[in-house]
Amino acid sequence: MKAAVTTRPGPPDVIQIFDLPAPTATPGWVLIRIKAFGLNRSELFTRRGDSPNVKFPRVQGIECVGLVEDDPSGTYEKGQKVAAIMGEMGREFDGGYAEYTLVPLEIVIAFESDLPWSTLGALPEMFQTVSGSLHEALEIKKGESLLIRGGTSSIGLMAGQLASHLGLKVISTTRDPARKDLLVEHGADHVIVDDGRISGKLKYFFPSGVEKVLELIGTRTLKDSLKCLGHKGTVCMTGILGNEWTVKEFTPMGDIPSLGKLTVYMGDSGNLSQEKLQEFIDTVEQGIIKPRIDTIFKLDQIVEAHEYMEANRAKGKLVVVI
Ligand SMILES: NC(=O)c1ccc[n+]([C@@H]2O[C@H](COP(=O)([O-])OP(=O)(O)OC[C@H]3O[C@@H](n4cnc5c(N)ncnc54)[C@H](OP(=O)(O)O)[C@@H]3O)[C@@H](O)[C@H]2O)c1
Repeated sequence: MKAAVTTRPGPPDVIQIFDLPAPTATPGWVLIRIKAFGLNRSELFTRRGDSPNVKFPRVQGIECVGLVEDDPSGTYEKGQKVAAIMGEMGREFDGGYAEYTLVPLEIVIAFESDLPWSTLGALPEMFQTVSGSLHEALEIKKGESLLIRGGTSSIGLMAGQLASHLGLKVISTTRDPARKDLLVEHGADHVIVDDGRISGKLKYFFPSGVEKVLELIGTRTLKDSLKCLGHKGTVCMTGILGNEWTVKEFTPMGDIPSLGKLTVYMGDSGNLSQEKLQEFIDTVEQGIIKPRIDTIFKLDQIVEAHEYMEANRAKGKLVVVI
């Protein structure tokens, strides 16, 4: 099979295409013929060597969609459509940047859909992250106000659409005023241009603050996001677009407002049930939610795809089709 192998930690061109033997199914594992996969920022960090547990060479890719080729457990039939996500896929064992992958049974989720593979490939990890952050971490409710910090990211755009569909008031941020329309098309009722300190501007629209904040920029803006909270509000940090992992001088009694809550979402395939994924795919098929896909690459363009992601040129999800 053709596989994109990250040969060592480094810039995008450490990923090289090789012919490797296709894996063979073993008990407890499912062999998938991959049709498409989404690219994820965590793969960029892993490629750069920021995931200390990942050993190279490694076929990266924390998610994929495709057809079951062989499942010795008999749970899935040959040819059944499935997604596989996380559970150390593309990190501890070889993942989705290939024509075939062998993954543990428990991270496989079956679905039915006539959507093109290029769309399906964009969905599992993006939906798992958005759904986990909004429902499990932030416990959003209809009528609440939600600030999305880093709104133009693929996660931010999907979160905006889902939250608006569920009846929340959405405020989204971008650093680029030219991207306001993009945010409005993806569910935003208000757009704020983010210079790192927006709590003053936000209070103009919402004098008593917002109920929920989805923080995708990360530690750089976290303290300011906490200032945006209303009574008993919650901030969930899910992203780290700002590329800084630690908060300097954090004073819990001072930076977190009294009775306010701070949580994080780190993602887990266990947070995504077959029912939730199928329901979401159905809303996409019905045109209710329109995932924004920026570019569709082929496997042998993987270096170009990583360069594109690293240069922050994407306005939506990047997908590779096999
Ligand atoms: N916790 C989890 O389970 C999980 C799962 C998946 C992804 N994530 C995280 O979620 C975040 C979003 O991922 P994504 O793939 O959707 O991102 P993406 O689409 O690649 O986001 C790109 C956008 O991020 C904004 N951005 C880039 N650098 C920035 C900076 N230094 N400061 C502020 N904004 C910046 C830019 O928007 P503007 O130019 O418009 O401002 C850019 O258009 C990432 O941090 C990713 O690691 C977390």
